[in-house]
Amino acid sequence: MGAAERLEHGMMRLPLPPLPNLLRRKPNPEDHITDDLDWNAIDLRGVEDLRSKSIEEKRALVDTAMNGLLDRYLPRRRPISFDDYDWNQMRPEKVDPVLRKSTWFVNSVESNAQDAGANIASASRKGKVTWLGRFEEKWEEEEIMHGQIFREWFIKSDLVSQQEIDAQIQAVRDRGFRIGEGFNELEAASYGWPQETTGMYFYKSMINYAKQSENGYDPVLVKILTDVMSQENFHRYVYFMGMKATLKYFPQRFGKDVVHTLVNFQMPGHVKYPFF
Ligand SMILES: [Fe+2]
Ligand SMILES: [Fe+2]
Repeated sequence: MGAAERLEHGMMRLPLPPLPNLLRRKPNPEDHITDDLDWNAIDLRGVEDLRSKSIEEKRALVDTAMNGLLDRYLPRRRPISFDDYDWNQMRPEKVDPVLRKSTWFVNSVESNAQDAGANIASASRKGKVTWLGRFEEKWEEEEIMHGQIFREWFIKSDLVSQQEIDAQIQAVRDRGFRIGEGFNELEAASYGWPQETTGMYFYKSMINYAKQSENGYDPVLVKILTDVMSQENFHRYVYFMGMKATLKYFPQRFGKDVVHTLVNFQMPGHVKYPFF
């Protein structure tokens, strides 16, 4: 029996780190991911007596805090577009087999945002909040373009035929994506945070790898990777803040919703493209 099953059956108690310390962790300066996001926008202090508040009141406070955060950031966000790139600068011959394979992989996992989007929207309704559904609309617009832009790069690169790439995308979509079905809003955020963070660092690794090549690199691909990485950073930010805001008012949900989700965590690529 694995750890997840033992936890499920109450046979194992995880030693939980103190909640505030875990959630107050700031990005490590050595991560070299710079952004202008306010990581202190929501903190866990300032709630005097949670018992005097009803569940509905606490839920409304979370929703107000998160919608305030979205008011601050969503208006200036826009999905990546084909016009953001000078495609004439493409140098696909400088993309070595390792980077090509990784790009094929991210093209695959980014090509079905709709199924995950439906699960996130449903999690928002299940949690009776509006912030997650509102974020999901923007999230899905951005994620769809991640897939579109990698597809475009491959088509223009002549490394594979359009027929080949579209067959791959169709195969990923046919496989479906069921992670997140039945999640509530806190489970969705607890899944989205590590998923977006891992995705972001995967892009970061690809950029580093490309730039280390002695033969130079494809500047268009590197710009695409950089733009996508930056959007994944914003996504992880919103999920992280969603976890903080929710746990501020519902600290007792940490064990079931957060820990349970993390123990069972699996990246989308395992499902979407298990042959990588
Ligand atoms: Fe993405
Ligand atoms: Fe993302």
